[in-house]
Amino acid sequence: MKLLFVDCCISQRGKESRTLALAKAYIDAFRAAHPDWEVERADPMDLPPLTAEFLDDRDTRKGEFSAPMFAAARQFQSADSIVVAAPYWDLSYPAQLKTYIEHISANGLCYHYTEQGCQGDCKAEKLVYLTSGGDFEGEDSVGVLHWKQLCKMFGIETFTYVFAGGMDIDPVKTPELLAQACEKARSLV
Ligand SMILES: Cc1cc2nc3c(=O)[nH]c(=O)nc-3n(C[C@H](O)[C@H](O)[C@H](O)COP(=O)(O)O)c2cc1C
Repeated sequence: MKLLFVDCCISQRGKESRTLALAKAYIDAFRAAHPDWEVERADPMDLPPLTAEFLDDRDTRKGEFSAPMFAAARQFQSADSIVVAAPYWDLSYPAQLKTYIEHISANGLCYHYTEQGCQGDCKAEKLVYLTSGGDFEGEDSVGVLHWKQLCKMFGIETFTYVFAGGMDIDPVKTPELLAQACEKARSLV
């Protein structure tokens, strides 16, 4: 069994990234609870933005999902469980994560259309979205809403998330707020 870790923890803090701390808390608890599972990392930074040429190429290959251009989509489709981690940037998330979403949104592989509309084809039953923001969590945060809707499209039944908010409000309180958010992430395993 495989947990896919979509690692979009781009940060000027490097290993001190709060978003990465959340991801580590979740993954460590996951490994402890599922010692027989493999954890595989996906790196959105490896993927190029989509171009018209890429889309034409993708359209002509429809059904040939063994092509390298579908590698990210194949990996996402076949994962048994998924955790996505990305900082809260400009009210959503880094552009690289959107590029990743565009790569995994492969019609015929991760979802397909029927007369009733979109049907999801991903194997995972659960996806957890982890993010940290300078401000406190607002209503209908775009990253949270987007992943919730993507889970519906991909046929992933359970969506949960942690928003570690208020990270840049008062530096004295940041460690405690982050520790609380990490505890919440552990509890989602
Ligand atoms: C490019 C950029 C954009 C950001 N935009 C927002 C924002 O719109 N709202 C907010 O509350 N915080 C924003 N922040 C602050 C980060 O969300 C916050 O510092 C977060 O904890 C960073 O996570 P990290 O430690 O993993 O880098 C932004 C930070 C950066 C670098």
